[in-house]
Amino acid sequence: MLDLYAVIGNPIAHSKSPFIHTIFAQQTHQAMQYTAILAPLDDFKAAVESFHHQGGKGLNVTVPFKLQAFQLASRLTERATIAQAVNTLRFEDNEILGDNTDGVGLVRDIELNLGITLTAKRILLIGAGGAAQGIILPLLQQQPAILAIANRTPQKAQLLQQQFLPFGNIIAENFTSFSDKRFDIIINATSASLNNALPEVPIDIFAHATLVYDMMYGSELSHFLKFAQQQGARQIADGIGMLVEQAAESFFLWRGVKPQTIPVITLLRSMNFKQGMNK
Ligand code: ATR
Repeated sequence: MLDLYAVIGNPIAHSKSPFIHTIFAQQTHQAMQYTAILAPLDDFKAAVESFHHQGGKGLNVTVPFKLQAFQLASRLTERATIAQAVNTLRFEDNEILGDNTDGVGLVRDIELNLGITLTAKRILLIGAGGAAQGIILPLLQQQPAILAIANRTPQKAQLLQQQFLPFGNIIAENFTSFSDKRFDIIINATSASLNNALPEVPIDIFAHATLVYDMMYGSELSHFLKFAQQQGARQIADGIGMLVEQAAESFFLWRGVKPQTIPVITLLRSMNFKQGMNK
C-alpha cells in the first residue's frame, strides 16, 4: 500500500506540487502517491475529512484555504501559529498537525540557492496579504537590519508591522512616501504579477537592489522582474526555487527525509507553464 498525500486548493489544475513530490518520492525511495484535490469553495473541511478517511497521511494546502487549514488543525507548529496560516497538514493518531513551510522555503532559496545572506540586509517586502504574512517571521529570524512592509492599502501593512514588532526591526511604508528607498533585497509578495500588473512603488528603489525577488513564477519573466531589471537591479529571481523548497520542507515533515531540490528546480525551469504562485 502506498501512503497517500495531496495538494488541496481551488483552483488546483495547474499546481506543480504533484510533479515535485512525485520526483521527491522517486529520489528518496518513498512508497507514496501524491495527487491534487479540487475542494469546493464552501466545504474545505469535508474535503479534508474525506481524504483523511480514505487513509490520507498529509496535505499541502493552497489558495484560498490556508486560513481555514489553520483553524482546522488541532496542533500547530510555532511558525504556523505566528503566520496564522497553514500550508501543510499531517494526520497523526488523534491530531491534525498544521505547519507553514512557505517562509523557510523562501529563506532557503535566497540564502542557499541564490547565495545571498539576509542577515544585516535592508529588506523591502511588497504586499500584506496571506502570502506576505507567511514569510515575515522567517525573514525576521535571519535578523535583517530592517524589514519594511509596503502595501497598496497601507493599513494592512501597519497591522502586520504591529503584529510582528516583537520579532524584529520591522516598519510599515506607504507606496507613495517611502522614508528611505535604499534596499538590498526587494520581495514582491503581492498577487499583482498574476494579472501582469506592477505594484506602484517608487521606481527608484530598484537601482540599489542586489536582489529583486518575485514570489510568482511562470515561463516568462513577470512585468515586475522585467521592470526591476530595466531599472538596474543586479539580480532577479522568480518563485520557482521557493516553490520547490517549501515542498521539500513539507516532504521532510511527512517522511523524515530531505529530498534534493536543485535537480527539481532545474527541471521545472526547463518546462513551459502558466503563471502561478506557491503551489
Ligand atoms: P495572497 O494570499 O496571494 O497574498 P491576498 O491576501 O488577496 O492574496 O493579498 C493580495 C496582495 O496583493 C495584497 O497585498 C494586495 O494589496 P491590497 O491589500 O492593497 O489589496 C496586493 N495586490 C494585488 N494586486 C495588486 C496591484 N495591482 N498593485 C499592488 N498591490 C496589489
